[in-house]
Amino acid sequence: MRILITGGAGFVGSHLASSWAALPGHEVVVLDNLRRRGSELNLPFLRRRGVSFVHGDVRKPGDLDEVGGQFDLVVDASAEPSVLAGTNGSPEYVIETNLYGTVNVLNFARKRAGRFLFLSTSRVYSIAALKALPLHQVGRRYALSGQGPGWTSKGIGEAFSTSSARSFYGASKLASELLLQEYVESYGLKGLVNRCGVIAGPGQFGKADQGVFTLWIANHYFGRPLAYTGFGGQGFQVRDLLHPQDLFDLLQRQLSQENVWDGRIYNVGGGERVSTSLAEWTEEAKLATGKELSVESKADSASVDIPYYVTDHSLVTKDFGWSPSRDRRRIASDIAQWIKNEEALLAPLFAP
Ligand SMILES: NC(=O)c1ccc[n+]([C@@H]2O[C@H](COP(=O)([O-])OP(=O)(O)OC[C@H]3O[C@@H](n4cnc5c(N)ncnc54)[C@H](O)[C@@H]3O)[C@@H](O)[C@H]2O)c1
Repeated sequence: MRILITGGAGFVGSHLASSWAALPGHEVVVLDNLRRRGSELNLPFLRRRGVSFVHGDVRKPGDLDEVGGQFDLVVDASAEPSVLAGTNGSPEYVIETNLYGTVNVLNFARKRAGRFLFLSTSRVYSIAALKALPLHQVGRRYALSGQGPGWTSKGIGEAFSTSSARSFYGASKLASELLLQEYVESYGLKGLVNRCGVIAGPGQFGKADQGVFTLWIANHYFGRPLAYTGFGGQGFQVRDLLHPQDLFDLLQRQLSQENVWDGRIYNVGGGERVSTSLAEWTEEAKLATGKELSVESKADSASVDIPYYVTDHSLVTKDFGWSPSRDRRRIASDIAQWIKNEEALLAPLFAP
C-alpha cells in the first residue's frame, strides 16, 4: 500500500506515517512545509523508519505535482490547527492552508489516489451551542447530564449544531468537509471524514493555543509556570483525549471496509471514559512526572474557548467495533516518558 500524508512531519501525521511504515508492504511519503515549530525534529525519526520526505506546501499545487506516482491513500493532516488562528485579525494563513490547501490535496487525490482521509475537528460545532450546554459541577470538573439536539450525557454526536460561528479553524475545516463530499458525489472520489476531539500524546509540540494537554505535562517536567485560564480560572473545563495510536487502530479498521468511503463523517475521540478536566489533568501530570507545580488562575476566557467537549463516538464504535483503549493515565505517562527520553532536544522547544 502506498500512502501520502500531507502535514506528515507534524504530531498526528508523523505518528501515522511511522506506524504504517513499520507494516510490511507499506510505502509512506510525507509532504510538509515545516511551519509548525518542532516538526523538523521528526524528520530524522521518519527517515530511520524509511519514510520519504517532500518539503512542500499544500497551498502550492506545484509542490504536490512534484510528488511522484500513484497512491492508494492520501491523508490530509496538514493544517494550522490552532482555534485562535485568525482571531488576531489575519485569517489568511488558516484559510489558505485549511481550505484552499485541502482543495489542492483533493484535486491531487482525484487524479492520483484511491482514497482520501480528512482529519477534521470537533471545532466544526457551533461555539454558542457548545457554550449553552447545561453543565453542572461534579468534584473538580464540569459534567453534562440529560440530552438535547445532537448531544446526550455521553457527549457530542455528529448531529450537533454547526450552524453558527465556530472559529476560523473550525469554519475552514467544515468548508473542506463539505467540498470533500462534493468531490465524492461529482467525481467519484472515495473519501472519509474523521472529526477528532483533542488528540494528545508523545511527539506533540504543545503550545498554549494548541496541544495544551501535552504542554501541561512538559511544564510540570521542566518546572515552568501554568495557569488555569478561563471559566473562572479553576480548571474545571473538560475535554476527552485520544492517543494517536488509538486513531491509527481506527484508520486500519476503516481501511478494511471499502463501502464506507462515501463522504461519511464520524466523531472520533476518547469519549467520556478518557475525559479529564484541567484540574484533574494536573493530578495526572504530577503522577506522570513526579513533580508538582502551583498552577495560577486567570478568570477570563477567550471568545473561542468552550467549557466542555466530550466526543460521543457511538457511531464509529457501532460501524467499526472500535473504541479507544488507552486511558488518560497512559496518555500522560507516554508523554512524560517521551519528554524524559528526549529531554535535551525538547527543553528549548517547550520554553515559553
Ligand atoms: N491534535 C489535535 O488535537 C487535533 C484534533 C482534531 C483534529 N486535528 C487535525 O489533525 C491534523 C494534524 O494535526 P496535528 O495535531 O498533527 O498538528 P501539527 O501542527 O502537529 O501538524 C500539522 C502539520 O502540517 C504542517 N503544515 C502547516 N501548514 C502547511 C502547509 N501550508 N503545507 C504543508 N504542511 C503544512 C505543519 O508544519 C505540521 O507539521 C490537522 O488537520 C488537525 O486539524 C488535530
